[in-house]
Amino acid sequence: MRLDEALEGRRSVRKYETRSISRDLVLLLLEAAEMAPSAGNLRARVYIAVTKPEMRKVLALGAYSQSQAESAPLLIVICSDVERSSRRYGDRGSLYSIQDAAAATMCLLLKAYDLGLGACWIGAFDEDIVREALDLENFVVPVTIVSLGWPAERPLSLPKRGNEEVVSWIE
Ligand SMILES: Cc1cc2nc3c(=O)[nH]c(=O)nc-3n(C[C@H](O)[C@H](O)[C@H](O)COP(=O)(O)O)c2cc1C
Repeated sequence: MRLDEALEGRRSVRKYETRSISRDLVLLLLEAAEMAPSAGNLRARVYIAVTKPEMRKVLALGAYSQSQAESAPLLIVICSDVERSSRRYGDRGSLYSIQDAAAATMCLLLKAYDLGLGACWIGAFDEDIVREALDLENFVVPVTIVSLGWPAERPLSLPKRGNEEVVSWIE
């Protein structure tokens, strides 16, 4: 798939079929996520792929019962490893590790689209619920939850903002 096609065609998909996603595909998603750039190439991020129904239920609750979190057969929680980044970058490490996780999320979303999967970036969740459910160490911060499944909807493309609206040129 050409990059332009992926960038233009990808949309947040929030309705899924019930059929599951094979582990091989999950591994392809994670490989793509790991191709994302990271500060100092530290890759200060970790992934937790959740298919277990009971755990998905708790995470969906943590995501304020958003319907796509409740119905997705797969949730991937992408966390920043603050300690890993802060060891080298001090205070700045916290921000870098969050950026590492966000960059990985974007690559994962594009790969999901490439594989024909539907996916949605979920940033609205109760960190404490997610942290406790996954028994995360203090220095591991959940940054995104990506809900994934075989698409049961095809969202239309969104209006784009024009360059004039988003760019300031300094020439
Ligand atoms: C930081 C961030 C947080 C987001 N959180 C949520 C969320 O909690 N729930 C949701 O349904 N979509 C969430 N989204 C997806 C956006 O709503 C979506 O990307 C936006 O509406 C544009 O639509 P598109 O992804 O189809 O282009 C989030 C996206 C980002 C980048």
